[in-house]
Amino acid sequence: MVQAAWRWADSQGTIIPGTKIGDRFAQLGTGSAIGFPVATLFGEHQIHIGENTMIGRHCTLAVGYSADDHHERPGLVIGDRCVIGARCSFTTHESIVIGDDVWFGQDILVSDSGHGYQDPTLPIGVQLAPHEPVRIGSGSWIGHGAVILPGTTIGRNVVVAAGSVVRGNIEDHAVVGGVPARVMRQYKPGAGWVSVKDPQDVRPEHRQRWDIPAAPGSKKRVAAADVADDPADLP
Ligand SMILES: CC(C)(COP(=O)(O)OP(=O)(O)OC[C@H]1O[C@@H](n2cnc3c(N)ncnc32)[C@H](O)[C@@H]1OP(=O)(O)O)[C@@H](O)C(=O)NCCC(=O)NCCS
Repeated sequence: MVQAAWRWADSQGTIIPGTKIGDRFAQLGTGSAIGFPVATLFGEHQIHIGENTMIGRHCTLAVGYSADDHHERPGLVIGDRCVIGARCSFTTHESIVIGDDVWFGQDILVSDSGHGYQDPTLPIGVQLAPHEPVRIGSGSWIGHGAVILPGTTIGRNVVVAAGSVVRGNIEDHAVVGGVPARVMRQYKPGAGWVSVKDPQDVRPEHRQRWDIPAAPGSKKRVAAADVADDPADLP
């Protein structure tokens, strides 16, 4: 009975377009869904989610400092066909933009702000740090447990290794990993994915066919793709 009740709650609790909560989002595209239960959800009117994007259970999608934030900006933008694993957390105070076809493992934090510590007399928790927008380019893959720090720009088709802590600018077509994350491989047209440590260590390029699923009647108002070009448009 508990299992049946949970399945019922699960089916009723999934956030999809056309539901009461789904309609609170600035945009929740056709075919997209947010798993039940969500961990924390506020600022829906500043959250734009594209089409056919799947967000797992226990995720946090938060824009602003509280549910009383009445800004109208697109604070959190997630593109089309993204897959976001369970317990990921997007805490947005200004702007986080994720391109199309970005896949996230589980337990990943993406944040565009932290706390200041310059006043030694005040609790750090009450000191605010500047907002620094985050961008993650189309076609990237973020490994399990990664942390994407404020001010980070990740290019397109970037691999972020499991457990990495990423800050700064990561160029397109790179594999980064570690704490702090460093570039481990970089794609070089004509050569392949070349190891930074040992240039003789090259992972050869291997092209595969993938037809982007046709999006049913698009109602998009904000496109995440402005952060990165079409991932199919490889050199
Ligand atoms: C990064 C990854 C994709 C491997 O990429 P790769 O190009 O095949 O890397 P290699 O195996 O050739 O290793 C290259 C170097 O990176 C290191 N490395 C690999 N994964 C690492 C990680 N998560 N953190 C730190 N370093 C890592 C390797 O030890 C190696 O270092 P070395 O040259 O000093 O020996 C893989 O290790 C990984 O982290 N995958 C994510 C898995 C995951 O999160 N799955 C769940 C979500 S779907």
